[in-house]
Amino acid sequence: MRTKIVIIGSGPAGLLLGTLLTRAGIDNIILDRVSKDYILHRVRAGVLEEGTVGLIDKAGAGRRMHAEGLAHEGFSLAFGGQNHRIDLHALTGKRVMIYGQTELTSDLMTVREAAGSTTIYDTINVKPHGFDRSSPYVTYEKDGTTHRIDCDYIAGCDGYHGVSRKSVPQDAIRTFERVYPFGWLGVLAEVHPVRDELIYASHERGFALCSMRSLTRSRYYVQCPLDDRIEDWSDDRFWDELRRRLPVEDAQALITGPSFEKSIAPLRSFVAEPMRFGRLFLVGDAAHIVPPTGAKGLNLAASDVHYLFEGLREYYLEKSPTGLDAYSGKALARVWKAVRFSWWMTTMLHRFPETDAFSQRIQEAELDYLIQSSAASASLSENYVGLPY
Ligand code: FAD
Ligand code: DHB
Repeated sequence: MRTKIVIIGSGPAGLLLGTLLTRAGIDNIILDRVSKDYILHRVRAGVLEEGTVGLIDKAGAGRRMHAEGLAHEGFSLAFGGQNHRIDLHALTGKRVMIYGQTELTSDLMTVREAAGSTTIYDTINVKPHGFDRSSPYVTYEKDGTTHRIDCDYIAGCDGYHGVSRKSVPQDAIRTFERVYPFGWLGVLAEVHPVRDELIYASHERGFALCSMRSLTRSRYYVQCPLDDRIEDWSDDRFWDELRRRLPVEDAQALITGPSFEKSIAPLRSFVAEPMRFGRLFLVGDAAHIVPPTGAKGLNLAASDVHYLFEGLREYYLEKSPTGLDAYSGKALARVWKAVRFSWWMTTMLHRFPETDAFSQRIQEAELDYLIQSSAASASLSENYVGLPY
């Protein structure tokens, strides 16, 4: 088999890149090691930047998102028992879109299938080869047979645990990492959200986030110790803990119900440099991870896709390698700013096991400054809605 681009991974990065390439008339094949159904049931991100929304529109997959997604103009920072609204729209002129990653993935799959592009699920032992030479190819096993796809370029969109980054020689790559000493316990429930907007709450018992997927489906998180097990958290225990961390007005208004998804996610910052190795590009979580606090992971995957797609489009349609040569530098410059923002939001809003009285006061002063100073609120807002591409 032969195609122009083999995309490893059918998450948001792989699907968005594949759909944009297909629309531009550039052949591509996506390989994933899990099933379509498994991907569609992976509950993750919920907040999309305007830049991400624009790319989804460009891919022709925005119709349902605009009909069912919720445009938010602000969010609440809760601390000291009170809510403080951050008016994103007044401070930046921009909004964010609340639309679940599972819905987005489904929409992109539908557009891809309608266009007749190939996605191969349930593959085993996917491996990129020859990307340091002019003739790269990817091998994989399926139904007991080994297959080979020859291509011009390989896009490694296979997430943090994928094979693409691991295939790069150790001495060609540099990694940077920070692991946080807590996790997020997340719950999905078919209940009306506690407020119309998200609440990011800093509390002495730990961080809490009230988010949503729709006007009838809520997504809630509480900071928890890393060694907690999901079995230790009954629904009742979760709702009690969430209530304790919210201002009284929200705790009283909180509607609870049975959870239908519950999971614990570790928090990590990670960056691999560079993001290009000959004819292999790393894209999205394959190259970088941010703690979820700033809602940046999927949005960064989308901005990488923007730079890579433009580079590939220029290469195939204008015969110029300039965009591809600039990919790693441009993508990393934006990645590091989002890594900084996500680290800062995490540090400001969570309780760290080692926090002493001094650090505690600094955290409180920072939150206070943030809501008192329009310059500080504007800086928070411009990062939250997404820096320009
Ligand atoms: P992935 O979604 O990880 O997709 C990678 C794909 O590659 C998968 O389908 C996988 O099966 C496949 N794969 C892996 N290994 C192989 C292999 N060897 N061979 C073939 N295929 C392989 N981000 C935001 O922007 N906003 C948010 O609000 C937000 N909230 C979050 C909340 C939580 C609790 C979590 C955990 C994450 C959140 N994120 C958020 C982050 C976001 O979900 C990720 O950054 C995003 O999924 C990255 O997309 P990706 O396509 O790069 O990687
Ligand atoms: C969600 C996740 C986040 O990390 C965040 O900052 C906001 C919302 C969510 O899953 O809805």
